[in-house]
Amino acid sequence: MTSRRLVLSRSAALIGAASTGLLLPGLARAQGAKLRVGLMLPYTGTFAQLGVAIENGFRLAIDEQGGKLGGREIEYFKVDDESDPSKGIENANKLVQRDKVDVLVGTVHSGVQMGIHKVARDTGVLSLIPNAGVHVATRAQCAPNVFRTSFSNSQPTRALGAAMIAKGHKKAVWITWKYAAGDEAFEGFKESYTAAGGSIIKELGLPFPNVEFQALLTEIAALKPDAVACFFAGGGAAKFIRDYAAAGLKGKIPLYGSGFLTEGVLEAAGAAADGVITTLHYGDGIDTPRNKAFRLAYAKTFKLQPDVYAVQGYDTGLLLVQGSNAVKGDLNNKTALYKAMESATIDSPRGKWKMSKAHNPIQDIYLRVVENKENKVIGVAAKALEDSGAGCKMT
Ligand code: PHB
Repeated sequence: MTSRRLVLSRSAALIGAASTGLLLPGLARAQGAKLRVGLMLPYTGTFAQLGVAIENGFRLAIDEQGGKLGGREIEYFKVDDESDPSKGIENANKLVQRDKVDVLVGTVHSGVQMGIHKVARDTGVLSLIPNAGVHVATRAQCAPNVFRTSFSNSQPTRALGAAMIAKGHKKAVWITWKYAAGDEAFEGFKESYTAAGGSIIKELGLPFPNVEFQALLTEIAALKPDAVACFFAGGGAAKFIRDYAAAGLKGKIPLYGSGFLTEGVLEAAGAAADGVITTLHYGDGIDTPRNKAFRLAYAKTFKLQPDVYAVQGYDTGLLLVQGSNAVKGDLNNKTALYKAMESATIDSPRGKWKMSKAHNPIQDIYLRVVENKENKVIGVAAKALEDSGAGCKMT
């Protein structure tokens, strides 16, 4: 026989659970409740502008689809990750444990991503990566609940080596920030450049996010390579381009890079960026109605020119809209949600793309040159390029 006391204590427990948000998902997250979206991005530091562009693009995609996800209103939760890897896990937990987000969108920096990735694997929260290219996230540590809408770190540079050799540059110096993104970009460059017959005469590096380039530029001048290839991004990239010109290297030793070098920095870099050749999965000048419509809408909404980060944020929004619609806003219906996202075609400003089995975009890589503050597209350096996904076993 059920005692009155037991009934009482049960309802008390239920009220307690409701106030702390611990109810079973089906009860606490009723379909009508707002869908909780966590944005973990850099809003300060050398990657601050990248975080803002990603958020802008993400919101634009969702607003264009009526501002809802699978029929549900959205509540946003934001954390500035400062591109600080040492706070990665703690910051991801603020969103997942404290704010109880249904989906975590983030981030830019590969080291910080590793913190998010641990939390995503431990908790099973849906994790959408709008930039950070760290290989393991879609290789040996791939996971059913983790989807990347950007690139893997070696994807853009895998198309760079042959382009440099085609221009007759057979001896190169590589320079980067020494952390996962730079080291893995080097992996793609080394493979493509040496396969095409080039030799890398020196690898130079400095810790992230240092911008004391002077001594390294002096070394480059003394080495006299045919060309320089690099990975830098954000505020540091703008300074590198300016310092390269100020050191007298522009016009003497051609500068190449993973295309992030010239994204979102063309106002800040000015004429020093003219002629820099890069490879990337986007270019301002992609001549399609889709890209033109996106660029116009973004410029009108934010009074800013979009860049690759804005596109990646936008595509993250498109992916989440498709997934949420397929499950009518019930993100707990994981099998159907993941299936919809795995089979989605993203009609992106960069061109249509689909996920690889490891959840990383299969995409074209464009050859671009900077002209008058624009990343002009001058060719396709690699068609439908797919990361190896080495070691990925979805469990
Ligand atoms: C990264 O840390 O993975 C990263 C950061 C900025 C970029 C690209 C990759 O532009």
